[in-house]
Amino acid sequence: MTTDAKILSALRAKSDGVSGAQLAEQLKISRAAIWARIEELRRAGYEIEAGPHFGYRLVSSPDALHADDLTARLGRIKVVGRDIRVFEETTSTNDVIEKLARDGVKEGVVVFAEAQTKGRGRLGRKWMSPTRKGLWFSILLRPKLSPQETTQLTVASATALRRAIRKVTGLSSDIKWPNDLLIGGKKVVGILTEMSAEVDRVRHIILGIGVDVNQDAAEFPPELRKLATSLKIEAGEEISRAELATEILRELDADYTRICGGKFSRGADEWEAGCTTIGKHVSVQMGSRLVRGCAESLDDDGALLVRTEHGHLERIIGGDVTLEK
Ligand code: BTN
Repeated sequence: MTTDAKILSALRAKSDGVSGAQLAEQLKISRAAIWARIEELRRAGYEIEAGPHFGYRLVSSPDALHADDLTARLGRIKVVGRDIRVFEETTSTNDVIEKLARDGVKEGVVVFAEAQTKGRGRLGRKWMSPTRKGLWFSILLRPKLSPQETTQLTVASATALRRAIRKVTGLSSDIKWPNDLLIGGKKVVGILTEMSAEVDRVRHIILGIGVDVNQDAAEFPPELRKLATSLKIEAGEEISRAELATEILRELDADYTRICGGKFSRGADEWEAGCTTIGKHVSVQMGSRLVRGCAESLDDDGALLVRTEHGHLERIIGGDVTLEK
């Protein structure tokens, strides 16, 4: 942890204040150095009160994302979020992670961007990523899974996001296979999983996540207004992006650790319970092939099992699912 992350972490742990002497002792630096860092944090938008009786007290945090603050909020995690980087603007956070992966960076690194100029969605679609309105981020993972087993990660990320959204906003969302989250039938989260693999071994996975957080309805282009929503629209109030980001990383870390320990089935049950695709008539476009039928259940590895009108059971591991009724 950096000095700033340690200071923010100490201030968050004691909301009634921490003295400069205590901070200096804890961080093993001078009180003057603490004061200089506090000044720097204030310049970055943190409102920190100082007084003779309580020392330093954190009053409010800026809406902008800061790596040190996210690290301080996150506390102890195993893998996801052990290295957090925040960019003001990137093309796509998946591109930044791809480069880090090629440079041999350890798994668990997370890259956030306040805005993306070339945000992309599944199936070559564009992903709108307006400045500070959402969470646009990607995670590098190097799981010891076969390429077929990686659907587990896609499925687990949807349940982790769903839990985090419920905790922070109280909103309940529906999962659309494989990992869109919808509220009232409108999309609020999209996940783009990109993989580099050999035949039987995954080299790395990039989990790219987009959450529409604080847009107003008018900020969505007219053609998207019927299809997409934001947490602010649904909750009726502004949502703290830093708090949500932290909760998401915490939940993802827990699920990732569970999957790497070979325990996917618990997550699969939770996924099925939150998934509105199961039991529905669907059509799935996979390249030039169209499969139509009833989505029956989820297979052990996260694939969607669809009973076609001819009675065959099709295993779907990718593609574009449309709910028919
Ligand atoms: C989809 O539903 O089509 C997936 C959308 C994924 C969007 C996120 S935003 C962060 C990351 N960077 C990207 O360019 N895309 C993903």
